[in-house]
Amino acid sequence: MTPQNSTPPDNKNVPTHVAIIMDGNGRWAKERGLPRLLGHRAGSLQVRKIIEACIERGVQYLTLYAFSTENWSRPRYEVRGLMYLISNYIDREVLNLHRMGVCLHHFGDINGLSRSMQKKVRAAMDLTRQNISITVNVALNYGGRHDILSAIRAILASGLPAEQVDERAISNHLSTSGIPEPDLVIRTSGEKRLSNFLIWETAYSELFFTQAMWPDFTSATLDEALESYAQRKRRFGLSDSASDPARAGL
Ligand code: FPP
Repeated sequence: MTPQNSTPPDNKNVPTHVAIIMDGNGRWAKERGLPRLLGHRAGSLQVRKIIEACIERGVQYLTLYAFSTENWSRPRYEVRGLMYLISNYIDREVLNLHRMGVCLHHFGDINGLSRSMQKKVRAAMDLTRQNISITVNVALNYGGRHDILSAIRAILASGLPAEQVDERAISNHLSTSGIPEPDLVIRTSGEKRLSNFLIWETAYSELFFTQAMWPDFTSATLDEALESYAQRKRRFGLSDSASDPARAGL
């Protein structure tokens, strides 16, 4: 099958990489007197729409926090339900996403997933590897501290001398290696924290918080976040004038 890839428009002030903490599925369900899993199901139905909207707007990388290393501590029925939902989503959607030109990528510890989930995730990445409309990173069994710890262990195992361990070496050993750091992080549901999401990679990211629960997050909410981002002046730790890319020679 030939994927229908498209080249992203050269939009100024559109973040290259948007990362989303898809929060509030449980509360969305509770407000409607529904079981939590139906909230997660409603949330999963938003995913394709938001990927489409990101492609239309020229976002090149989208990261979605689907399941954290901490989420294993949720009640057994919820963990099983979420894994079933995600596995089912891959079965149902991977060909559609492939046709849309989506390159699927995984962040996190793949070895901590069930054998069948590992197989599905690897197959989805293999199938979509060449696609260029957008790269969608699914953070699944992902935790920022866990990822940093794994990177440090891998560096120690490689025998790299301590004086050669620098920020680049750590970045290169994270599961996010090779993907640009997020420009914009969006969290839904009104919570204002990162919750162990990309804690190394978000050092200079812009943050946007919305009251919308994830199942209610639409392309209009995405546009609010993108408009807010477009107004921001990013300094990357430099002074006001030095952060002007022309003056800073970046
Ligand atoms: C947080 O809501 C959400 C999650 C732990 C799961 C997110 C997963 C999906 C949207 C499912 C599918 C994802 C993909 C990529 C196919 P919460 O349960 O913490 O909500 P609450 O804070 O209101 O309880």
